[in-house]
Amino acid sequence: MSTQHSFAAVILAAGKGTRMKSDLHKVLHPIAGKPMLDHLMDSLEALAPAHTVVVAGDRHEQLREALGGRNVSVALQEPQLGTAHAALQAEDALKDFSGLVMVCFGDTPMVKSATVQRMVDALGNGAKVAVLGFRPADTLAYGRIITADDGTVLKMVEHKDASEEERACDLCNSGVLIAHSDDLWRLLKSVGNDNAQGEYYLPDVATNAIAEGARVVAVETDPAEVAGINSRAELAAAEAQWQAFKREEAMAEGATLKAPETVFFSWDTELGRDVTIEPNVVFGPGVKVADGALIRAFSHLEGATVGINCKVGPYARLRPGAVMEEGSFVGNFVEMKKATLGPGAKASHLTYLGDTTVGAKANIGAGTITCNYDGYFKYQTVIGERAFIGSNSALVAPVTIGRDAIVAAGSTVTRDVADGELRMERAEQSVKPGWADRFHDTMKKKKAAEKKG
Ligand code: UD1
Ligand code: CA
Repeated sequence: MSTQHSFAAVILAAGKGTRMKSDLHKVLHPIAGKPMLDHLMDSLEALAPAHTVVVAGDRHEQLREALGGRNVSVALQEPQLGTAHAALQAEDALKDFSGLVMVCFGDTPMVKSATVQRMVDALGNGAKVAVLGFRPADTLAYGRIITADDGTVLKMVEHKDASEEERACDLCNSGVLIAHSDDLWRLLKSVGNDNAQGEYYLPDVATNAIAEGARVVAVETDPAEVAGINSRAELAAAEAQWQAFKREEAMAEGATLKAPETVFFSWDTELGRDVTIEPNVVFGPGVKVADGALIRAFSHLEGATVGINCKVGPYARLRPGAVMEEGSFVGNFVEMKKATLGPGAKASHLTYLGDTTVGAKANIGAGTITCNYDGYFKYQTVIGERAFIGSNSALVAPVTIGRDAIVAAGSTVTRDVADGELRMERAEQSVKPGWADRFHDTMKKKKAAEKKG
């Protein structure tokens, strides 16, 4: 990264998140399938923080569990006396650290690393603190940043403490603040709680720095990036915003979206060039779609890999472990799970392929079911190249169908089929010429007699 300073991040997440009305910690609620907190930490990765400290309180066990694999310390804030008090709880974890410290909020997770970099760049020239502001369409109850004509910050004030004149100012505080560790800890300790909420406010760090004669700069950013998430409605708004960004990005990178507003991506969806996505398609986590693929309307994909020039749907369901190799095709009402469809293979209608590998150019007829589960264990089905599985076949796993084999329609296959073999399981048919005509005559007469009587 381009910061010349060493850098540490403090993420505040000790609030109760009351307005979510949830048993799940607020910052663990997902956006595009990934917890808010992970969005924030992944974005900060670009700045290579020397340390990251998450300040936790209520339900800190949930946070510790979610942070499991990450190199992050958790500091406890107990009781929760405000955002400045929360930030100060990270001091101990950072006592050996000297450099820039960024303080941000777990409930404002979409902050971009480039924006943080701009704040880092804005520090210096006598500025001791940088804060991140935005001008939302609706300023709601956000704290305000009061600036002079030249843009220097004069004061930061919470909505509840603000005068009418201050509330009229539309530059709002996002909560992100950066200062050198030496200044930050000193300034945090200088913050009092003599205000409308009796809390220790983080923005007072800026106000107190100004009182010390230091300069505080405000960097401005897009409101969409820093909208706070305090309720389910705000969570939905953040999801909508993320989806809007992702659709734009997908199209900018060469995908055609027929009705972009109806396509829902996951945080990790990968699309190649010249992919076409029809309306009402949902991507769960872990989907990769290669160049030239067509995803038709109403398909649902999750944990799936779609190869070059494949066609999916309409109404297809690809579950985790579904792999479609180049030029393969899955049609309507086909479900795949832990199954590979070889190059050019087809399953055009009404089929379940689970724990299965299908060879190149095989044809899976309508209504084919791999019976992969006996209620206790799962079993594999292997279908050879160019095999032809007739409609309405049940393949009872474990079972192998050889290359170029034909399974006749309606068969229940319980034993392996050799290469090039025909397997047909049919009961003897009884043939009764004219029986149906006689039946219809008799019945029509009976019905007519009944109506008269
Ligand atoms: C805060 C800011 C406000 C800003 C807004 C932006 C303060 C005093 N106010 O208000 O200026 O416009 O965010 O969204 O900073 N937290 C703790 N411990 C506490 C209190 C809060 O860790 O004792 C954490 C919360 O978990 C949350 C963050 O700090 O992640 C912000 O707290 P919240 O109560 O949501 O503050 P706002 O009222 O939104
Ligand atoms: Ca908030």
